[in-house]
Amino acid sequence: MIEYRYLQPSDAEVAADIHIEGQPGTVLTQLGRPFLIQLYKAVCLSQWSEGIGVYDDGRLVGYGAVAVSSARFFGEFKWKYLWRVALPAGLSVLKNPRIISNVIEGWGYADKVSSPEREADVLFLGVTRDYMRHGLGPEIVRYMFGWAGLVGLRTANFMIEKRNRPMRWMIGQLNDLYIAHEFEAYGRTMLFYKVPIEPNLANAKLPLGQPYTHAYVYSKNGKNAP
Ligand SMILES: CC(C)(COP(=O)(O)OP(=O)(O)OC[C@H]1O[C@@H](n2cnc3c(N)ncnc32)[C@H](O)[C@@H]1OP(=O)(O)O)[C@@H](O)C(=O)NCCC(=O)NCCS
Repeated sequence: MIEYRYLQPSDAEVAADIHIEGQPGTVLTQLGRPFLIQLYKAVCLSQWSEGIGVYDDGRLVGYGAVAVSSARFFGEFKWKYLWRVALPAGLSVLKNPRIISNVIEGWGYADKVSSPEREADVLFLGVTRDYMRHGLGPEIVRYMFGWAGLVGLRTANFMIEKRNRPMRWMIGQLNDLYIAHEFEAYGRTMLFYKVPIEPNLANAKLPLGQPYTHAYVYSKNGKNAP
């Protein structure tokens, strides 16, 4: 039975494996499995992020991970979680020194375009290989948008490699999307899509279960924005 539920910290290892399979060779993947496990624990533990998983008979087979505010999420991640993986991540860098220049380029980019308030950044969205092309990816997006509407987000940003055709196809189905930037990063051509949440709420859904840590909720009038 297929179910869509909030991701839990105990899913972090499987989430890391799905990430590695779905995004081979990218900067985050190059930082290694221990780094990704820590990242996905943080996605569940932080109020600045959320994960929504698709489970087949209880087994995680895909998920979307979103930062409510990537500046706050990565800011917190750096001091709260990163030290736990400093050694394994350091070893990954030693094995492949180019990671350093990629990471510097990556952070530099994030600082330049850091998304304004109420703009969520999708950290990863993917389905394990055996479950691809069954409509699970677009369904994760519907649940992600249902949740995003609930916490008062206005826009979801997707940073996607230009040659990633399935992902571009999937985002292309959404209403009122546009490409805000096209740029070179990590030696790849990337597209930065902005997708407004509101025009996509008609067929949005809400995940089952409860988030491990509830994400920050923006009020309708914006008065409680931090
Ligand atoms: C992008 C992704 C989430 C789509 O999820 P999905 O559940 O397979 O989506 P769908 O079942 O609706 O299939 C999407 C469409 O993309 C295309 N597509 C999907 N997989 C494909 C493949 N391996 N080769 C070519 N086209 C493919 C097809 O057009 C397909 O529609 P069709 O089966 O009707 O022809 C999935 O391909 C994935 O997990 N990719 C790896 C992770 C990734 O790159 N994430 C982006 C970084 S954040």
